[in-house]
Amino acid sequence: MMIHTNLKNKQFHLTNGQVSYIFNVMKNGHLGHLYYGNALRHRNDFSHLQTVDVPTAASCHVYEDDPAFSLETLRQEYPAYGNSDFREPAIHVGIENAPNVPNFTYDSYKILKGKPSLKGLPSTYINEAYEASTLQIILKDEFLHVELALNYTIFQDKPVITRSASIKNNGTEKLIIERLMGASLDLPDKDFIFTHLAGTWSRERHVKERKLEMGIQAISSLRGASSHHHNPFLALKRPFTTEHTGEVYGFNFVYSSNFIMQVEVDHYDTARLTAGIHPFGFKWNLKPHEVFQSPEVVMVYSDQGLNGMSQAFHNLYREHLIPNHWRKEERPILINNWEATYFDFNEEKLVNIAKSASELGIELFVLDDGWFGKRNDDTSSLGDWHVDLNKLPNGLESLTKEISELGMKFGLWFEPEMISPNSDLYREHPDWAVGTPHQHTLGRNQLVLDFSRPEIVDYLYEKMAEIIKRTNLSYIKWDMNRNITEAFSQKLALNQQGEFFHRYILGVYNLYERLTNEFPNVLFESCAGGGGRFDPGMMYYAPQAWTSDDTDAIERLKIQYGTSFAYPVYSMGSHVSAVPNHQTLRTTPLSTRANTAYFGTFGYELDPLKLSEDERLEIKEQISFYKKHRGLIRDGLFYQLLSPFSENETAWMVVSQDQSEALVGYYKVLATPNSLKQQTLQLSGLNEAKAYQVAGRIYYGDELMQAGLQLPTEFNGVNSSSAKRGGDFQSNVFYIKSIEDLHFNDL
Ligand code: GLA
Repeated sequence: MMIHTNLKNKQFHLTNGQVSYIFNVMKNGHLGHLYYGNALRHRNDFSHLQTVDVPTAASCHVYEDDPAFSLETLRQEYPAYGNSDFREPAIHVGIENAPNVPNFTYDSYKILKGKPSLKGLPSTYINEAYEASTLQIILKDEFLHVELALNYTIFQDKPVITRSASIKNNGTEKLIIERLMGASLDLPDKDFIFTHLAGTWSRERHVKERKLEMGIQAISSLRGASSHHHNPFLALKRPFTTEHTGEVYGFNFVYSSNFIMQVEVDHYDTARLTAGIHPFGFKWNLKPHEVFQSPEVVMVYSDQGLNGMSQAFHNLYREHLIPNHWRKEERPILINNWEATYFDFNEEKLVNIAKSASELGIELFVLDDGWFGKRNDDTSSLGDWHVDLNKLPNGLESLTKEISELGMKFGLWFEPEMISPNSDLYREHPDWAVGTPHQHTLGRNQLVLDFSRPEIVDYLYEKMAEIIKRTNLSYIKWDMNRNITEAFSQKLALNQQGEFFHRYILGVYNLYERLTNEFPNVLFESCAGGGGRFDPGMMYYAPQAWTSDDTDAIERLKIQYGTSFAYPVYSMGSHVSAVPNHQTLRTTPLSTRANTAYFGTFGYELDPLKLSEDERLEIKEQISFYKKHRGLIRDGLFYQLLSPFSENETAWMVVSQDQSEALVGYYKVLATPNSLKQQTLQLSGLNEAKAYQVAGRIYYGDELMQAGLQLPTEFNGVNSSSAKRGGDFQSNVFYIKSIEDLHFNDL
């Protein structure tokens, strides 16, 4: 049983033996929150978990003179503003020219086997009904004639609950929605560290932490994309929670546009989390009989530290978010020509790169920006999706043929949502660009196409579908290189402009939906100037994302470590690039570049014709190493071991679900002279009683996890003959294999 209902006490208990989530209908008909955390034994009545102590201070507003009942202090499930709860609400709706104090009271509930999908929106899904159960609570506002549905899904074998809300206008007048959060959660105290992923272009998703304090702390985006700057992910961890132990709640918003995730700590030190579409500028007109659906919030609870939380997200996304087709499919090792040629290429150059790459064992050739229109730099041609015959006089078909004769697959870069002012498309349809009639701000010399208009989405669908068919594409890199300014559609009525951002992203999702349905074998890699839209909304369509334009191995330690808090490593596009690195001018060893990139979907972003013979040999080995282990990287459990945000060393590992093998990555940024520090590395996730072979030695699992794996001897100034590692930017990857038939007595 995953959902218990007690109609007498009007209580609901979602539990799966790992987590419990409990709420009730309070005496004023609103929903009250009782508990969220580790699984509790079910009982008929949980009402004693309700906070009842109402401070007698004059500032407290009580209900029907009951001093033990005040919305100002009670934990609530989906609060509104205006009837004595002064904290930030989850919902704000109203009818024009009428009093605007929503009052939603409990009406009914439904339990559904499985999990319904959310119309037009990406969301986690199930394959079999038994994998999840959904509780839908219906609340009604009798004055507004509006129905509010709160959806809670609990997954069978995961510490995961997903939530969303939808609203239906049953009245005869237009309803205006100004706020409809995916979830709101009242926690009993504020003793948490607010942990999130922040940054900017080329240093995305760095881990940031701060103690919760009285007041509002928030992360958000108003850029029309989830953004490089704040990922729609938030964790609330206890102060002593580490990578391996302690309590943490993780929240991820399945959406790729404007969002807010905030925690309000009130005057009694309780904490309210709200997560949803950013209410700033948002105003949705809901006509009679229409429904508006909020995107979904994924909530994870772990009492096994950050790794427990991250693994729950990873397992969920691998099994219930990425397209089904790609769950077990191996992704090709690719070469992307961007850093090799930028815009300067022709057919011969590309074929030579592909040929040289295929000899190394690379499986997919990706032609990046610059193949269409007259695009010799970033000032023109976005929107003109036909091949540039100056660069490729024989067309894409000839190039594809040559690539496939090399035994490689072929992929192309698109930036479907964009339009250059210098393009035929713009000259023909200047009103297709987002912006007011008088104002357009350029970003990377380009404007954004108005994807809130279905005819524009249709146009792009036709163009892309035609090219996919004609060139038999295997892969598309879908880029989005600027954020949205002057968020105005020339087609929407003035009073509908508050709908623009949401309609825009629905247009993007619609295009993805149509293309992925029609071409399920085409692998999509999402990208937004690198990691500017690395979110679960995109992952629903594109199982991998270009993690960052920053390909420097040392920068990638932080970026990939932070990204792994919520997203599976196999979703992170990670490539070996040339040195000095194009983003940092840093020179790192080829081995370290690969050792970092292995923990992702692996590829190369360099000119293979410029490699020395030794480098080519090394790369061949890297490629066969990755081919051997990519199944483990795709399906294994990922453990963060040493954080690049607190140490000069970084370490992580992937352990197979049956604990029979593992891959460990260890990286030391700067060499330490004459140092003994970190000669061993404590591992995680292995079977204590199993014997494992690693680096020429045999250890038991408990030894590897308690005493640690002995690292190769480091150069200390005098031991040059025995030292096995040294210098800045050093790294090692260890493959660990269990020896099934070895018993304790044998050692
Ligand atoms: C973005 C991407 C890069 C590359 C360029 C091409 O910056 O993140 O990988 O595709 O666009 O213009």
